[in-house]
Amino acid sequence: MKSRIVYIMVILSMLLSLAACSGGQKTAQKKTYTYQDMVVGFIQTGSEGGWRAANTASFKETAEKLGIKLKFYDAQNKMENQLSAFRNFIADKEVNVIILAALETTGWEDVLKEAQKAGKIVVLEDRRIDAPETLYATYIGSDFAEEGRKAAIEMCKLLEGSAKKNVVELVGNVGSSAAKDRGQGFREKMGECGITIIKSQTANWDATEGKAVMEAWLKETTDIQGVFAQNDEMGLGAAQAIKEAGLDPGDDIKIITVDATAGAFKAMIAGDINTVIECNPLLAPQVYEAALKALNGEELPKWIPSQEGVFYAKDAETILPTRKY
Ligand code: AHR
Repeated sequence: MKSRIVYIMVILSMLLSLAACSGGQKTAQKKTYTYQDMVVGFIQTGSEGGWRAANTASFKETAEKLGIKLKFYDAQNKMENQLSAFRNFIADKEVNVIILAALETTGWEDVLKEAQKAGKIVVLEDRRIDAPETLYATYIGSDFAEEGRKAAIEMCKLLEGSAKKNVVELVGNVGSSAAKDRGQGFREKMGECGITIIKSQTANWDATEGKAVMEAWLKETTDIQGVFAQNDEMGLGAAQAIKEAGLDPGDDIKIITVDATAGAFKAMIAGDINTVIECNPLLAPQVYEAALKALNGEELPKWIPSQEGVFYAKDAETILPTRKY
């Protein structure tokens, strides 16, 4: 009798542990991703200047440091290249995260929906887009409108006491959030000191184009007191054109640029650029961290802005050696 009871108890405990096992399979522990499990498809805009080079280097170096597998794509500043790269990364079974630096604000909804359907995490870096927030995990980048506001406030300081405040604006690629928002921010604040934008044209973030546009403007009029260049390269090009027209950049015509690359610091030391508004390209650590959180199912704020400052010519010599890009 005793042995029968022992036998029944053994069978019962075996059945119970079997049930526990099969129940356990149903509620199997969710996988916790680490950086080593992350395979990133990164879609860069192109390689238009010092800011972009620093941004690309940040993503490559940080991926190596963290053990992330990075598949890097340079879209050569063509929107159609970005869209086809996006679709290739969606089809790539290995890729679980897509990081996008969008050339244009519009045109993303379809691929974002496809990515969501395929279970890919999408993180926007550097540039915001116009698409429903539910279609991406987060956007990490600058407050471009604030950069534009800062530029206008600084231009007001530079032109204080000047009878005329005619400013020309060199614009980045017109469909980008950086160009749109910097332009809008500048316009929000310029009225406070009576600045008038007398000319505004794209030079596609490029020094040579910036120089050509400025040359053409100077042939029409030299009644220009300030240049707002939406990036350093275009500002450097404008400074060159001003010199070649026999004027003194930084003095006869004040120049404000955005980015804060080493090239702009050197131009401030030379007295060619007056003030530089910082735009931080070293975003990779923040972006990868956010992507990992999203892979592990964490909800993220839809915009994580980066912290940025303003630099003046008088401090350029001291600050330049501390700059990383
Ligand atoms: O989106 C950031 C902008 O893109 C930088 O200001 C400009 O230089 C660029 O390439």
